[in-house]
Amino acid sequence: MAKLSAPKGTKDILPAESYQWQYVEGLLKEIATDFNFKELRTPTFESTEVFARGVGDTTDVVTKEMYTFLDKGGRSVTLRPEGTAGIARSFVEHGLYAGVLPLKLYYLISCFRYEKPQAGRLREFHQFGIEMLGTTSPLADAEAILFGNEIFKRLNIGNITLNLNNIGCKDCRKAYNEKLKAYLEEKKESLCETCQERLGKNPMRIFDCKSEICQDLLKDAPTIFDSVCDDCKNHFQQVTDVLDAVGVAYKIDKGIVRGLDYYSKTVFEFVSDNIGAQGTVLGGGRYDGLIADLGGNDAPGIGFAMGLERLLLLAGESLPTEDSRPKVFFIPIGDDAKKAVLKLVYELRSKGISAEFDLNSRSVKAQMKYADKIGAEYTVVVGDDEINQNQYPLKNMQTGETKPVSPDALIQELL
Ligand code: HAM
Repeated sequence: MAKLSAPKGTKDILPAESYQWQYVEGLLKEIATDFNFKELRTPTFESTEVFARGVGDTTDVVTKEMYTFLDKGGRSVTLRPEGTAGIARSFVEHGLYAGVLPLKLYYLISCFRYEKPQAGRLREFHQFGIEMLGTTSPLADAEAILFGNEIFKRLNIGNITLNLNNIGCKDCRKAYNEKLKAYLEEKKESLCETCQERLGKNPMRIFDCKSEICQDLLKDAPTIFDSVCDDCKNHFQQVTDVLDAVGVAYKIDKGIVRGLDYYSKTVFEFVSDNIGAQGTVLGGGRYDGLIADLGGNDAPGIGFAMGLERLLLLAGESLPTEDSRPKVFFIPIGDDAKKAVLKLVYELRSKGISAEFDLNSRSVKAQMKYADKIGAEYTVVVGDDEINQNQYPLKNMQTGETKPVSPDALIQELL
């Protein structure tokens, strides 16, 4: 029979690794609480329109990478390639704009993109993201960036660069797209086929192209950063003023346009050189038109998402390696001991103490070895004598010291 394996571009997170995932996820939730963000959970799939309208139908994500299919009812649905569009859909659907604003939300989700897998790039991957809805304040842009910065700080990750760009509002971009189009028009024949199409529909998307020829043609092109209106310039200045005041270093990268269409004004990425070609660990920005594009009011938004696979690659050795281990392991000898031990094990567990025993009918010697292998802190061997005398030998596996205690005292000792 053919050997079954996980689909290309997906990964099992095995028990030896899941400890680190839980650690990172716990830390992210802790930071979210410290910044006063609440979790919003949306479905893993949405109607395809949410992403076509939200993310943009000329983006690589929508045109090439989505897992889209017709369900048995003939509806076109898509596994979410990212979290923002679903959050925006939910915000509109539930009229959350009528509540207390800004709404500060976070999510921990799996996402799906049909991409060529490599280190740090998968077809199913995981994102932690935040979104703030209902605020135009540049302070919110700074808050999103500083939230991202805090994650790297708490994980002791130093080697990371924060890059910023200002891609202006809808009006700036309309004027800029015309300027870029005029610049590239005479070079049109040299652009790849996709970019020739982009030139007609959405010229700024040419910055996403992976072809060196297209990137070369863009070298001296006008930048959006230098083409934004005074309002957008002023907004961006206020964002960098906060970063300067707080003392967070950044670089301006006029080439960042982000791969999704909903962005406006501030966009940012945290990038590392230490994890190979897929160095963008976190990306985000403002999206003041998205809620309206999805049929809502004009509520503005700002947020980011980070890839957890990339974060874990980067955090590497700074993550704790020690897995959780049982506090105590019981080895009963004889039927009466088995009954007494079972009662005690479940009592300890319900008091929050990790207690364990053998399920596989091993010999006493093999049980000792097993207790050692799983890293039990204490072992207790219980036979008829121990039950009759009501004294259990509590053995500290590290020091080898054994002390006889009553079952009640044993619970107190382990608590
Ligand atoms: P994005 O840049 O497409 O933005 O993705 C954010 C992060 O997800 C990336 O920086 C990367 O770490 C991770 N990522 C993306 N694709 C893959 C992949 N195939 N394999 C592994 N990791 C990947 C967004 O998704 C926006 N929704 C972010 C946002 C939120 N903007 C505003 N709010």
